[in-house]
Order: sequence, then structure tokens, then C-alpha cells
Amino acid sequence: MALERTLSIIKPDATRRNITGKVNAMLEEAGLRIVAQRRIWMRKHEAEAFYAVHKERPFFNDLVQFMTSGPVVVQVLEADDAVALNRRVMGATNPADADEGTIRHTFAESIEANSVHGSDSVENAAIEIGYFFSGTEIVG
Ligand code: CMP
Repeated sequence: MALERTLSIIKPDATRRNITGKVNAMLEEAGLRIVAQRRIWMRKHEAEAFYAVHKERPFFNDLVQFMTSGPVVVQVLEADDAVALNRRVMGATNPADADEGTIRHTFAESIEANSVHGSDSVENAAIEIGYFFSGTEIVG
């Protein structure tokens, strides 16, 4: 197992309900270390660029609209096997399919308002981290 970093976003449905601390507690209890964190309000072009991989999907416009509907918390998480570990802690994209005890099972409102985003591979994690953070902002 290698020490990895992954990009996490606490989404607008969670900032609106003031539960970012509860989400962070679940991340930390699972062994993920928050080594960078910033609260931002993404502009449309930033959300479109971040989710560019989904731009042909039918839900793309709604996704961009949702992700720009309020503040988000972007964060870098560090742990052994951080990408897979964070995906286990988040649970399935659709909260109806998410296991009990996961963030999405506990907090998500819908497949769109699903409280958190996490990188899906080590390669994408590096790209996504670089989108929001410079090296000097990440303090392990
Ligand atoms: P996320 O991990 O942020 O990556 C893309 C997001 O699109 C996903 O989480 C979901 O919140 C959102 N989304 C909305 N509708 C769908 C859908 N039908 N299938 C997959 N993802 C969807």
C-alpha cells in the first residue's frame, strides 16, 4: 500500500445544511488526513472545466448548476490507499445504493445532491488536486 492523496469536495447540499464538520469527522475517523482545505464558491466555467469528463452526459448541465448553487469545501485527503479508502467512506454515487455507515448513506439527498465528490483514480486525483491547489498549500 502506498501513501496517496485524493481530491474531495464537500458539495453545496452539505454546506447548506452546515454539516461539513460531520463529514470531516467521518473522513478523519476512517483514517484520512485533511492536508489541505478551502471553502470556495465555484463559478460556472470552473465547474464545467472540473467536470469536463462528463460533458456529454445528460446530467452535465444540472450537475454544473448544482455545483455552483452554493459554496463547496475542496480538500486534499492523505492516507495509505487514499483514493480507494475515500471511495469506500463515501459510498456509492447513488445514496440508494450506498452502504450503511457511509457518508452518502448518512447524508446524501439524491444522486445529484450526494454530499461529496472523490477522485476515482490515482491519476485523476493528481489532475483534480492540481486544479484547486498548489504544492505549497498542501501540508502533510
Ligand atoms: P461526482 O462523484 O461528483 O461525479 C459526477 C457527479 O454527477 C456524481 O458525483 C453525481 O453527483 C452526479 N450525477 C448526477 N446524475 C447522475 C447520474 N445519473 N449518474 C451518475 N452521476 C450523476
